[in-house]
Amino acid sequence: MHKDIESVLFSEKEIENIVNILANQIEKDYNNKDFIMVGLLKGSVAFMSDLMKKINLDFSIDFMVVSSYGGGTQSTGRVNVLKDISQSVEGKEILIVEDIIDSGNTLNFIKKYLTVKGAKSIKLCTLFDKPDRRTADITVDYVGMKIPDVFIVGYGLDYDEKYRNLPYVGVLKPSVYS
Ligand code: IMP
Ligand code: MG
Repeated sequence: MHKDIESVLFSEKEIENIVNILANQIEKDYNNKDFIMVGLLKGSVAFMSDLMKKINLDFSIDFMVVSSYGGGTQSTGRVNVLKDISQSVEGKEILIVEDIIDSGNTLNFIKKYLTVKGAKSIKLCTLFDKPDRRTADITVDYVGMKIPDVFIVGYGLDYDEKYRNLPYVGVLKPSVYS
């Protein structure tokens, strides 16, 4: 285990099981649909990479980069588009893939943003959900796992751009913040 990790919340195997369940649901719901899977960089990269390989359908993938966190552990509330989706979303079914939903500001913003651009439908898929922290009024269609209000890292999730490469998800030692 990494020296900065206090405890492992989800092992590689547990994550794999969660991703399998989500992939099965998505495969059923999107059968015969022309859809774009849109990952939010960089947090979704490990999750989306595993998820897309388990969905046995034809679809395209794309990425967006938005910013709301300024290197800390709290959302600033403002969301900026740093990299937009590279294809037209007009009339398309969109599945947004996110690592974790916290306040809900990021997904709320993206959903409105792609609606204005003419998407036919927009569904949200997140690996982790912290429902206790939600401030935005938003429905998430696919939730891998609900977690309590703890700051987690690994499997794409970072603290100050570190720990994204850990194959498991863990809680950081408090000493790392201070
Ligand atoms: P929201 O806009 O407040 O819902 O924040 C969502 C974003 O905050 C996610 O895409 C993550 O980048 C980041 N985030 C929220 N909670 C955590 C966490 O526990 N660990 C790492 N990143 C987090
Ligand atoms: Mg993120």
